Amino acid sequence: MRRKLIAGNWKMNGSVSANASLLAEISAGGVDVAKADVLVCPPFPYLTQALDKVQGTAIAVGAQDCSVHDAGAYTSEVSAAMLRDVGCTYVILGHSERRSYHAESDQIVAAKTLQALRAGLTPIVCVGETLEQRESGATDAVVGAQLKAVLEKLDSAEIAKIVVAYEPVWAIGTGKTATPEMAQEVHAFLRQVIASFNAEAAATVKILYGGSMKPDNAAELLRQTDIDGGLIGGAALKANDFLAIIAAV
Ligand code: PGA
Repeated sequence: MRRKLIAGNWKMNGSVSANASLLAEISAGGVDVAKADVLVCPPFPYLTQALDKVQGTAIAVGAQDCSVHDAGAYTSEVSAAMLRDVGCTYVILGHSERRSYHAESDQIVAAKTLQALRAGLTPIVCVGETLEQRESGATDAVVGAQLKAVLEKLDSAEIAKIVVAYEPVWAIGTGKTATPEMAQEVHAFLRQVIASFNAEAAATVKILYGGSMKPDNAAELLRQTDIDGGLIGGAALKANDFLAIIAAV
């Protein structure tokens, strides 16, 4: 049985005071550790603040990106080792906003995944199709290629350590959600792709759904056989919504 993971992707939102309130409210909400693993991913400057605030709770902290490089003259970049050094345990990689606004290729996402794993972080590898790709029937081909590009670079043990997030681009921040059936279909396909590399890992690797997951649609999505949690944007910025999604597990 795969344990669910509810992850908040804060994107470029927050401030010292807003984060303090949000984290205090989430902690006070009494996150039910028996139900799910819970993760928040604030912007880089607030990682240590978040790590400090969640101390003594079951909430984990992750980043939203890392460098492909180990260290050195790479102005503005943050290495996976630095994230681990401050106490992060996860990192989101290959989010569609990185792929489209920063031209991140599958190769870059694969290189970052290796960096994360070598630093001891759990990478959350995001894949997803655009509306045009879905309408032309290319969903499986697109997400399959995105995932394979990463899996090809990993050994069997490394494959077992990743988390995958299926995030249809057309559902991110749009209020449009894939129906539970649509999402389940893609999740089952992604699990087959993992199985073609490592059958054992396919049974344990978590595949999260992301794209306008909200309190009112979370339960149905999370009930699907191959949906092992959520990567939540907008609703992760409201404590009540985030707690309600955790409670929906
Ligand atoms: P959303 O974002 O929940 O606001 O659609 C999800 C994501 O981009 O991870």
